[in-house]
Amino acid sequence: MAQGPSGLLKGALYRVYERRLLKQVKSGPIPQHLAIIMDGNRRFAQELGLSRMDGHVEGKNRLESVLEWCMELGIKVLTVYAFSTENVSRQADEVKELMRLFKESFRAVGDDERVHKHRIRIKVLGDVSLLPKDVQEAIAYAESRTRDYDRYFFNLAVAYGGRQEILRGLKSIAAKVKNGELDVERIDEELFSSHLYTANIPDPDLVLRTSGEERISNFLLWQLAYSELYFTDVYWPGFRKIDLLRAVRSYQMRIRRHGK
Ligand code: IPE
Ligand code: IPE
Ligand code: MG
Repeated sequence: MAQGPSGLLKGALYRVYERRLLKQVKSGPIPQHLAIIMDGNRRFAQELGLSRMDGHVEGKNRLESVLEWCMELGIKVLTVYAFSTENVSRQADEVKELMRLFKESFRAVGDDERVHKHRIRIKVLGDVSLLPKDVQEAIAYAESRTRDYDRYFFNLAVAYGGRQEILRGLKSIAAKVKNGELDVERIDEELFSSHLYTANIPDPDLVLRTSGEERISNFLLWQLAYSELYFTDVYWPGFRKIDLLRAVRSYQMRIRRHGK
């Protein structure tokens, strides 16, 4: 897109602002685990006259940048909400397009040299049995190629629902009680957490949602009990580095206030 002189100036000022903010944020406490509800792909596309699928592809591209920014900031665990159990009932052609995008992306991620260079462990949270076989295979490929890594953790919630996750954990605990493997008295928060998809993953410190919606939409219901929540108006594909930095700055100001 052609930029006039004012566009160039704006771009230069932005970069200065971004650098300053980055420096400021890096000197404060960094959340260990950031969780993101990536929302607004279709509205982004619609506003720019793009196809719905272009919006989802742009969203996927943005995710790659955000993962890099998180590593630059020292955020060790990133969990993103990519597809909910409710999204399964979107129009069949949209679901089909999304599934193709997931299949291609998980294959590509498994082969991505950045993933291997930074030793990023990929994990999917959700009921993968709801997904087509080829998507399940692509997920298994990305997970198995990164299973020994532990420098960064990149979790993708796909076919994920918080209530469904809780019920699944509950059923598995109930089955253990029933067959005598587990005493009811031993059920506590720690044991329950270990029966969720997020077993061994610390609870998110900060949960961020884009697109101006201020809902949780069935994301990490149990895990976000004490997380800081941050909502921003930008659509996910338009999420910039300064938006991430502002979210982390807000987190830092809040934890300073309540002295965590
Ligand atoms: C988020 O964007 C991506 C998914 C839920 C798959 P949406 O597709 O929800 O886009 P909007 O919120 O309708 O704009
Ligand atoms: C939440 O977005 C789920 C994901 C980002 C994957 P939705 O667009 O599906 O949520 P609602 O329908 O606005 O609550
Ligand atoms: Mg949405």
